[in-house]
Amino acid sequence: MPGRGLILGIETSCDETAAAIVQRGEHTLSSVVASQIATHARYGGVVPELASREHLRAIVPVVRAALAEAHLALADLDAIAVTSGPGLAGALLVGITYAKALAFAQSLPLIAVNHLEGHIHAVLLHERESEPRLAAKGTGFSPYFEAPKDGGALAPESNPAEPALALVASGGHTHLYLARPAHGSWTYSLVGRTVDDAAGEAYDKVAKLLGLGYPGGPWVDALARYGDPHAVPFSFAQIKPKAHLAGKTARTKAARTAPIARLDPRFMFSFSGIKTAVLRYVELHDMRGEAQARAARLYPAKPLGAPGPDSETRETTHPHQPTPSAPPSAPFVLEGREGISVNPSPPRPPQTREQALALCPQPTLDLIASFQHAVVGDLMKKTFAAAESLGARRILVTGGVAANRELRARFIAEAAARGVQVSFPTPSLSTDNAAMIAAAAWPRLLAKEFAPPGLTADPSLALGVGD
Ligand code: KG4
Ligand code: ZN
Repeated sequence: MPGRGLILGIETSCDETAAAIVQRGEHTLSSVVASQIATHARYGGVVPELASREHLRAIVPVVRAALAEAHLALADLDAIAVTSGPGLAGALLVGITYAKALAFAQSLPLIAVNHLEGHIHAVLLHERESEPRLAAKGTGFSPYFEAPKDGGALAPESNPAEPALALVASGGHTHLYLARPAHGSWTYSLVGRTVDDAAGEAYDKVAKLLGLGYPGGPWVDALARYGDPHAVPFSFAQIKPKAHLAGKTARTKAARTAPIARLDPRFMFSFSGIKTAVLRYVELHDMRGEAQARAARLYPAKPLGAPGPDSETRETTHPHQPTPSAPPSAPFVLEGREGISVNPSPPRPPQTREQALALCPQPTLDLIASFQHAVVGDLMKKTFAAAESLGARRILVTGGVAANRELRARFIAEAAARGVQVSFPTPSLSTDNAAMIAAAAWPRLLAKEFAPPGLTADPSLALGVGD
């Protein structure tokens, strides 16, 4: 029996150390995230080795903070859930090793969760948590046309038994899944994905190119509203059938386990082209110097020798690059539902938006707005086409990019026009967190699907492939 259904979730797949306690997959008792932004920002991307080191520093205080925020002790828990992949191997191992040790010491079952499934459960968790609130608004309330203030957007009569089309758009993934409810749990089929960069990766690279901060999504989001979205006509070419494979046999494990050749090219994404188009535009219009000056003004304290906007980003997708000489650890920030903050926050768009705005001439704001308009348009076009083609009347949008305001507004408007439902997590549940991991583990606890004692990290763990 799952007792009170109290699951501690642990998430360390990339650059956030997170722990949360969720009851019965529907009630978040605590959710704490230690951000590593301050550590990676100076490199303009996540440095895998530094991420592992920061997880090691943060994991114990973060789990303690999650227990404290929920007013619980380890002995009160019914299970421990941990992200087992996909993600950075060393980063995942910190969470897995700690979760295993806790489970062993407390004689608790350990549940392995796929990070991508976790992102999908962030939407479902938010839906379950908002239902009482929405119901309390009375029969006159139509969430279809009125987005809740926290950014979540629900739609008319939701039928939880229907299949849903899920878009997971983050820094590492831009994947479309058909999710089908099955005996209290879900099954997934991959129906589309990016053939190169993820949407969030494009945001991060373009922001870096323009001398803005890391991660780039929130910066572009904050500045795009001041520009003309039609100033630069970016376009996306239709992916040709099998063009992405060019007749070659898949070489990497990820490519073998996600055979993109059999996916419908109409639902495939490609974001490396728009990144190059922005780069060309910047060069053609002599905007390089302006971007460098902006970076120097926004990050005056950048350590000597640290890569600037012109340096190569250390991408999470290239984990084998040599480790840079490790900088001293930045203070990490704990953010909890009750605003736990043990260290001052690093500068973030809300604090520095005015400063960034003052440093962006109108043509730069127009470029930012046009980039975002094109990316959101492409995500929308393919997601709605897939939903229509597969007969899904529910769309779930999740992952860090789902925090984007223009994306939410346009998905809501399009869903209303088409008479389908669209749901998002809250912005803080959209980016990496552990509440989504604890929520995804609940059906597994009920089904007694526990992790094997030899559980280890699977950096290229796939979802919905081969069912
Ligand atoms: O889901 P997430 O926290 O981590 C991964 O699993 O990758 O997503 C992080 C990504 C980053 O690329 C970041 O730039 C992007 O999500 N992101 C956004 C916004 N907030 C975060 N992109 C667009 N608009 C935002 N508001
Ligand atoms: Zn993620």
